[in-house]
Amino acid sequence: MTVSPARETILRLFHQSPDGYVSGVRLSEVLGVSRNAVWKQIGQLRQLGYLIEAIPSRGYRLRETPDLPLAEELRIGLNTRVVGRDLHYLKETDSTNRQAYALGEAGAGEGVVVIADRQTAGKGRMGRIWVSPPAVNLYLSVLLRPPLPPHAAPQLTFVSTVAVSRAIAAVSGLQPIHKWPNDVLVDGCKVAGLLNEMSAEVDRIRFVVLGIGVNLNMTADQFPADLRMPATSLRLAGGVAVSRAAFARELLQQLDKLYADYLNFGLAPILAEWESRCDLIGRQVEVDEAGSGLVRGRVSGIDRDGALLLELADGSTARILAGDVKVVAT
Ligand code: BTN
Repeated sequence: MTVSPARETILRLFHQSPDGYVSGVRLSEVLGVSRNAVWKQIGQLRQLGYLIEAIPSRGYRLRETPDLPLAEELRIGLNTRVVGRDLHYLKETDSTNRQAYALGEAGAGEGVVVIADRQTAGKGRMGRIWVSPPAVNLYLSVLLRPPLPPHAAPQLTFVSTVAVSRAIAAVSGLQPIHKWPNDVLVDGCKVAGLLNEMSAEVDRIRFVVLGIGVNLNMTADQFPADLRMPATSLRLAGGVAVSRAAFARELLQQLDKLYADYLNFGLAPILAEWESRCDLIGRQVEVDEAGSGLVRGRVSGIDRDGALLLELADGSTARILAGDVKVVAT
């Protein structure tokens, strides 16, 4: 959906109004359009689900806001420098990662965000599907152009994972746990997943797409029965519905800050925060290395490129770059 500056201005005026009313005259003055044109804009907002009353001699009043992560809604109060410079909201798309990647290839600038109400072919890690029903969750992708070599790209997974955790803690009060490489868990169940994709030359990243899916308000019956690991939503875990727009705003702000910190100060402080929420360190695990076999060992840490370090039975250390981790003993 193309962003409408008029829609954004109307929503902003409603948000700023102390008694919730904004007169038709004021709207037409601020927008510089006729009362009739204002009426049409109000009609479009109503079609999106905004409940707007028209009271003779007082004006319009916004009585209910739908829980839509619309670009115009997100921009109100969004305090970021890079992430979210340009926001694209799609009611339905195949995959926000695919759309953001296409924008990257077409030369779009750093900070573009694609966000969808529903994905018909949401992509998970290792060729899996990311279940993406409408109206309940957050599906978004951020395009970044970090001035870094391609081998540094996996580091951005830690940047986005920490941003997701901070947003979960800030909005819901829940304390998430990280599972290498890119899962976020609450009460032992997966609540968010991240999929980063890259376009690069031999020695430099052209762009990366940070894909983030967070189960915000999904109900138990919306999860497929055959999930690889148990999953939950913030609503199921915390007992309260989470506003998609408020969560998306918080997430974009955290990501913006962490991305700036990463470029200025490096990965170490972010990795330390990531590790503080990771309960794998010191545990005996089995890693299914994306089709190339099983490795068993004790997790000794994460190296600076984001690889999982495993102490093997023979005393050597293995660096694991991709795979699924299962705890086998403490
Ligand atoms: C995983 O397997 O854990 C990664 C899931 C990533 C899902 C998100 S939803 C938004 C973005 N668009 C996609 O197609 N995938 C990512």
